Amino acid sequence: KIYSASTTAPVNIAVIKYWGKRDPKLNLPTNSSLSVTLSQADLRTHTTATCSAFFPAQDSLLLNGQLQDVSGARTQACFRELRSLRAKLEEQDPQFPKLSRYPLRIVSENNFPTAAGLASSAAGFAALVRAIADLYQLKESPVELSRIARQGSGSACRSLFGGYVAWEMGQEASGTDSTAVQVAPAEHWPEMQALILVVSAAKKGVSSTAGMQATVATSSLFPARVASVPQRMEDMITAIKEQNFESFGRLTMKDSNSFHATCLDTEPPIFYLNDVSRAAIRVVEDINKKAGKIVAAYTFDAGPNAVIYFEEKSTDAVAGVFKERLGHLEGWTGKGESIRASATE
Ligand code: DP6
Repeated sequence: KIYSASTTAPVNIAVIKYWGKRDPKLNLPTNSSLSVTLSQADLRTHTTATCSAFFPAQDSLLLNGQLQDVSGARTQACFRELRSLRAKLEEQDPQFPKLSRYPLRIVSENNFPTAAGLASSAAGFAALVRAIADLYQLKESPVELSRIARQGSGSACRSLFGGYVAWEMGQEASGTDSTAVQVAPAEHWPEMQALILVVSAAKKGVSSTAGMQATVATSSLFPARVASVPQRMEDMITAIKEQNFESFGRLTMKDSNSFHATCLDTEPPIFYLNDVSRAAIRVVEDINKKAGKIVAAYTFDAGPNAVIYFEEKSTDAVAGVFKERLGHLEGWTGKGESIRASATE
């Protein structure tokens, strides 16, 4: 018999960034973070987990048709935690088939280019953890599963929820209190939209894992950033609760710039933004100037691609101007590869 479960998990884009680990093994962060989960229809990973006593002994993971290495500590940590929860169920009820002892076969597909640096690890590990949790019929809540997904990739813990999601850094050395929670569902702010500008589909130069370690070790600006996050988290949660786009936008841009400033302050410096990214920043500045208030907000992860948040009512002022202004720039991949995603789930 082959047991099987399928699920999908969407990409999330942080507006208060996770950058820095206090424990690299458990992916415990130096600050809390907050993200918006994009809609399932736009960017997501679809994952099927199967297991059977008759599978060859090794666990396997196929991503977009390519066999991946599952021997890494992160994947192993997720498998181990999920298996041990299943084993508990099997102990409690001897009728339960001993799935925890069977080899796992995971098949994942992204509906977007993996190499584009679009937070694929977040959706990937969130889908992997939930697919196996479903396969094992675990009763754990999404908050509890987020603790496991975090060990796969820090940002993955936020992709187990839709809408607005906080990852609370926690204090415990064991990481039990470092989990994600939903701040508000997507329906709370239906006007919210995200426009993703694929500036470059090339794989990023410095991985986020390596980059944040270097920043923690060498940047003297970094402690100031960490100290400023708690207040910004609080203000961001208030902005979301009140659907205050001006405040949401101001905080989003400030946090992205603060994060990239610590990257530049890293030795050797890390440059994630390029000329096209900076042109996108100028376009947003111009849009906001023309509107006389903040109607668009940019944010950048560990790469040059821009994510622009705006409200539906500002679509013409924002998306229209972007097409007009950046369409001719070298490095802008053009209509076919720009992705308009609604920031709802
Ligand atoms: C800039 O979650 O990819 O996107 O925990 O090492 O897998 P690991 O890092 P990862 O880092 C994401 C960094 C970021 C900001 C964010 O998503 O909060």
